[in-house]
Amino acid sequence: MKELIGILTGGGDCPGLNAVIRAIVRKGVDAYGYSFVGIKDGWKGLLELDTVKLDKDSIRGTLHLGGTILGSSRTNPGKSPETLELAVKHYRELGLDALIAIGGDDTLGAAARLYEMGLNIVGVPKTIDNDLSGTDLSFGFITAVETATEAIDRLHSTAESHHRAIVVEVMGRHAGWIATYAGIAGGGDVVLIPEEPIDLEYVCKLINQRKALGRQYSIIVVAEGCRFKDESEVATLSGEKDEFGHVRLGGIGNRLAEEIEKRTGIETRATILGHIQRGGTPSAFDRVLSTRYGIAAIDFVHEKRFGKMTALRGDKIVPVDLSEATAETRTVDMELYNIAKVFFG
Ligand code: F6P
Repeated sequence: MKELIGILTGGGDCPGLNAVIRAIVRKGVDAYGYSFVGIKDGWKGLLELDTVKLDKDSIRGTLHLGGTILGSSRTNPGKSPETLELAVKHYRELGLDALIAIGGDDTLGAAARLYEMGLNIVGVPKTIDNDLSGTDLSFGFITAVETATEAIDRLHSTAESHHRAIVVEVMGRHAGWIATYAGIAGGGDVVLIPEEPIDLEYVCKLINQRKALGRQYSIIVVAEGCRFKDESEVATLSGEKDEFGHVRLGGIGNRLAEEIEKRTGIETRATILGHIQRGGTPSAFDRVLSTRYGIAAIDFVHEKRFGKMTALRGDKIVPVDLSEATAETRTVDMELYNIAKVFFG
């Protein structure tokens, strides 16, 4: 009988998810003769036995599509022993020989636990924030950087024409990778990341210095997970949490704009890029990276390298232990952030 492989996508969507699924199925069917089943909406589909047919027909025409044809959720079976047991039970009931989980630290954290409980699991790193340890790059991140950079370019026009400061809030819950890359690429006059609490006096000094030199506008790039130096919590609009206990971010941009305007007297506006960064078609680079990850994931299944995640190290895709991949948050390389700082003010 043909071996049956499950695929699921968990956590926030990300450009390139469909390209990963497509590569897994294409090579899995053609080279290894596997059959596939799609698990709908991440781990939720495994807990609820909600699946969808997945074959070469289902992946046709999906390479360039954003989002995920399998759906996604933040349901995490790792939250309790009962849900972990249920996931194991349903894996067996579905008759799976292996499961490929495409996701970030929550999704892959659960994958690591289920592997320890005896399931044949391979992980693929997905996070727009690019903060998964174990890999140099998660797919989708570069597309998000392109989107954020284009937005900064456009916002420059208004900032210059109206002599305003514009705060651009980008994604980055624990790590400021998008802010740092887009800040360098878009010529941000100040770039703020969660790794370094915001020193408002310093930020305003930089903006005032620019004004004194006749530069009547400023672009401030801020990651949504930033907090002010004298506050212990990240800024949120309502303090609200989603049903999985994650604080809903989004708020630092507006608060920062208010403070800058109050302290410098310069008209300051905020633009929150939000989910615009996660949606849409993957860049050519991300389509290639996603395809490479998908091919490696099905190769790992074939080679029975379970409990591993596909990772980019230098220019090679290599296996790393799922436990290593989810051990800690990969924060911004300060050497890179220092390059952004050269252009502050
Ligand atoms: O997946 C990471 C991320 O994009 C974070 O940068 C952001 O804070 C969060 O997801 C938003 O999640 P949601 O779309 O579930 O509100």
